[in-house]
Amino acid sequence: MTQSWSPERYERHARFVSDLGQPVLDLLSPVPGERILDVGCGDGALTEKIVAAGCTVVGVDASAAQVAGARQRGIDAYVLDAHELAYDTEFDAVFSNAALHWLTEPQRVVRGVWRALKHGGRFVGEMGGGDNVAAVVAAFTVALQRRRIDAEQFNPWYFPSDSEYRQRLETQGFEVLSVQLIPRPTPIPGDVGDWLQTFTESFLQAVTPADRPALIDEVRSELQPVLCSDNGAWTIDYVRLRFCARKPN
Ligand code: BEZ
Repeated sequence: MTQSWSPERYERHARFVSDLGQPVLDLLSPVPGERILDVGCGDGALTEKIVAAGCTVVGVDASAAQVAGARQRGIDAYVLDAHELAYDTEFDAVFSNAALHWLTEPQRVVRGVWRALKHGGRFVGEMGGGDNVAAVVAAFTVALQRRRIDAEQFNPWYFPSDSEYRQRLETQGFEVLSVQLIPRPTPIPGDVGDWLQTFTESFLQAVTPADRPALIDEVRSELQPVLCSDNGAWTIDYVRLRFCARKPN
């Protein structure tokens, strides 16, 4: 199961992801002079704002193409799977937006973040949680079931509840200052077919390349009554999990 990111496709169909990042940036509340790690920095659009706040920022992302984009913005960015974080007690804060739900061994990630933080440092993030994009998952389940394929085998996402994620943070030793699920139905630019092609590569890889256009059409038809308005505008059923936790002194 893979998900690749084309910077050009991302710019056209996914820019809203970083555009909607202001609330979690506000929660981070970066202080000039702080050293901050951005986990899943993507092309650096939000990372750049933390730099502009006067911080020294290191970005990591599993996508080489996205890291190249971040570097073009002048970000100190590295290709790294965030399961493999190996920083040691060196950051005032670890930040993450719309990345942690792609990481299917969450406790490993939480452990790496903990290790990366100085004592008293904070972990501030936002990711998909709870029933995030439930209509999309249900539509793939129906369309793949017709092909006798179990969609769950191709589901790439980890969308925890607030209580589950709190538990993970506390198990590691974090003091959880806030954790909440926030329904955020999100209008997308253009047609849902573009969104599906941009974000659901893993489900699409369940079928042959020749069958993918038909699969997208079927998923689109399932979603139309639920996510498309009478005037043809699509809104995805996003739910955010936003949290702030502290590594005690
Ligand atoms: C999300 O940010 O919640 C998300 C992104 C891509 C696919 C599914 C969910």
